[in-house]
Amino acid sequence: MFKSLITLATLSLLLGSSIAATEEILMVVEISRHGARESSKIFNFTVDPALNFNSTGNIMPLGKKQHFELGQLIKQKYIVNYPLLSENYSNNEMFVQTTFKQRTYLSSLYQLMGMYPDNQPSLSDYINYDIGKEDYLSPIQRTGSIKPKTNTFNVMQVDADQDFLLHVDKDNCPRYGAVASLTSSSDQYKNVQKYFTDNYKDQLQQLTNTTISTVKEMVDICGYLQWAELANLSLTFKPKPEDDNYCLALGDSKLYSVSYGLDELWKLGSFEFLNKLVYISNALNSDQQRKARGIKSLDKLPKMIHYAAHAETIAAFFDGLGIHRTVRSFPGSALFFEFVKVDGKLNIRMYYYNAQTKQEESIRFPTQSSDKIQLMDFIAQVKSRLNQIAFSDVEAECKNTNFTPNQNDYYSGDALLNDLKKCYPLKSKQLTGFLQAFE
Ligand SMILES: *[C@@H]1O[C@H](CO)[C@@H](O)[C@H](O)[C@H]1NC(C)=O
Ligand SMILES: *[C@@H]1O[C@H](CO)[C@@H](O)[C@H](O)[C@H]1NC(C)=O
Ligand SMILES: *[C@@H]1O[C@H](CO)[C@@H](O)[C@H](O)[C@H]1NC(C)=O
Ligand SMILES: *[C@@H]1O[C@H](CO)[C@@H](O)[C@H](O)[C@H]1NC(C)=O
Ligand SMILES: *[C@@H]1O[C@H](CO)[C@@H](O)[C@H](O)[C@H]1NC(C)=O
Repeated sequence: MFKSLITLATLSLLLGSSIAATEEILMVVEISRHGARESSKIFNFTVDPALNFNSTGNIMPLGKKQHFELGQLIKQKYIVNYPLLSENYSNNEMFVQTTFKQRTYLSSLYQLMGMYPDNQPSLSDYINYDIGKEDYLSPIQRTGSIKPKTNTFNVMQVDADQDFLLHVDKDNCPRYGAVASLTSSSDQYKNVQKYFTDNYKDQLQQLTNTTISTVKEMVDICGYLQWAELANLSLTFKPKPEDDNYCLALGDSKLYSVSYGLDELWKLGSFEFLNKLVYISNALNSDQQRKARGIKSLDKLPKMIHYAAHAETIAAFFDGLGIHRTVRSFPGSALFFEFVKVDGKLNIRMYYYNAQTKQEESIRFPTQSSDKIQLMDFIAQVKSRLNQIAFSDVEAECKNTNFTPNQNDYYSGDALLNDLKKCYPLKSKQLTGFLQAFE
């Protein structure tokens, strides 16, 4: 018995490598969260007031490095190990789109620099942003060495008011604003916030020697602490692991109000993206069929698409796919869709790169048992999600602020707290003695 197990294991190892050898990667789609950024609000918590964040909301040095490193991994995977992309950057092969923020734009540029050491950002990027100074960049990527006639990176940045793919929000979508505000003021969400005020507010006040009166202030301080920790700022106090856990959990709970507390949020947030996945899948599929019949390819698709976006973008996309995740993406992390032909059949492999652990994780639909799924099944899964969406034009739907949820339309606040307790070792304040006896 033992012996045959070993033989099976060896066999599957051998098969594994031969299967891998007949795989043809056709295309990759990546959606990333920008790298580590400055906090949204600056608190005077640093030992030296001058050594605080330089500004708010922009990418920090670590964030650029995170995306550069992700770019190097992508180069290893899709340029060196498998020749999906050419060694030199080409606008036709690599399509990059970001939201209208400095931090997503620079994340995409640093990823490109990691992928393509022989290429560089355009002159206007060097002029507009403080880039090209880091030692880890290649000589031509450092400022002052703009090389004529080399391809420079072309990154498409969409105006916030037109960005219905990567950033549906209250400003470009009044409906989203209405739904998000119903979600944040719901009893379910208030219940979640109450958990954090009951169990953590006092401790955070003591830690930071501040008076906190609203949950918003707690969220702001927690946000600052998280980013300050990543930036190694030296603070006048030292947060404990327990502080990190509460602060991260509180931050994650905000996804409830922006991405999934009501289904309408992910519907608005992921509609364009789900349609794009179906479009790309169908285009690749019909192109393969044409090729099989010896008809010239109509292929106008790039080999790789990188969408540089935000934690809430990825959260809405995950919920759009029907794969719910409680924890926000760590900065510099990304979700990948790899379109791959195996023995003549089109498949898709979803995986997630976690920039904190630097590990890849297979992403699967609840019913999916292996790391790949046939493209037709993938399309069916995505369409089954799209079928739950009542509108067919998100931009038009955004103007419709008529929305009245039922109480049971909300994701349960208790469920969210349970989800969070599975991810972080959170304690609830214990009722003591007499009261406890009656609990
Ligand atoms: C920040 O705190 C320091 C003491 O830690 C103090 O000297 C300084 O005036 C404060 N700055 C501001 C802007 O409040
Ligand atoms: C502020 O900017 C300086 C100069 O670019 C940089 O060295 C420093 O790391 C930045 N500080 C933070 C906290 O990002
Ligand atoms: C990439 O472009 C650079 C500059 O034009 C060139 O020197 C290099 O040989 C090219 N690399 C390949 C693999 O074509
Ligand atoms: C806390 O802040 C108050 C002023 O708000 C100050 O008087 C006190 O010294 C601070 N305590 C510590 C431990 O920093
Ligand atoms: C912060 O400090 C740790 C430990 O010393 C180090 O590994 C890390 O690279 C530092 N990060 C930054 C952004 O300087």
